[in-house]
Amino acid sequence: MQKLPQPDGLEPVTIIPYADAAHRSQVVALWEVVFGYDAPHNKPSLAIDKKISAKDGLFFVALAGALVVGTVMAGYDGHRGWIYSVAVSPSHRRQGIGTRLVSMAEQALTAQGCVKINLQILEGNASVTAFYESLGFSVEKRISMGKRIPKNVPGA
Ligand SMILES: CC(C)(COP(=O)(O)OP(=O)(O)OC[C@H]1O[C@@H](n2cnc3c(N)ncnc32)[C@H](O)[C@@H]1OP(=O)(O)O)[C@@H](O)C(=O)NCCC(=O)NCCS
Repeated sequence: MQKLPQPDGLEPVTIIPYADAAHRSQVVALWEVVFGYDAPHNKPSLAIDKKISAKDGLFFVALAGALVVGTVMAGYDGHRGWIYSVAVSPSHRRQGIGTRLVSMAEQALTAQGCVKINLQILEGNASVTAFYESLGFSVEKRISMGKRIPKNVPGA
């Protein structure tokens, strides 16, 4: 568990593995505020269920006391590592929590043997690009493609 002192007046923030009984409702609420996705395949409870079933130990939350103030998910397929769902509560931004979440995901991916980490950002999101650049990521010229598998998306 990472535990670092916070600036005066702020509760210390810890980064720990996601625990469904303690964190689910708060993570859903955080993602609804931060991402506001409405597509069925992005439904928070579906994403959480599928991640838990992967049992890969690559889902972490940032806690201020008992309050979930951030999340990160990662995935490793044996070739590349991916980082997803990096979210920090608007009230807790610019305190280094996002940096610590990504660092935790990086450490976990590194421990699994990962040699390269990728992530995707919506085009034009300059502040998130600046965030990842501050962590050593760089924009690579690639075309990102995707395909949905509707039969695995309830309600689609
Ligand atoms: C992106 C996000 C996770 C950053 O979290 P955070 O805890 O505020 O980030 P940090 O405090 O660790 O920031 C580290 C550095 O990143 C850069 N940075 C962070 N937010 C930034 C912003 N809005 N604009 C420009 N640079 C930014 C800065 O260099 C910052 O260092 P500084 O505060 O000393 O200047 C947070 O803003 C967020 O949840 N955004 C909405 C969700 C999202 O878009 N997630 C990414 C999906 S891939």
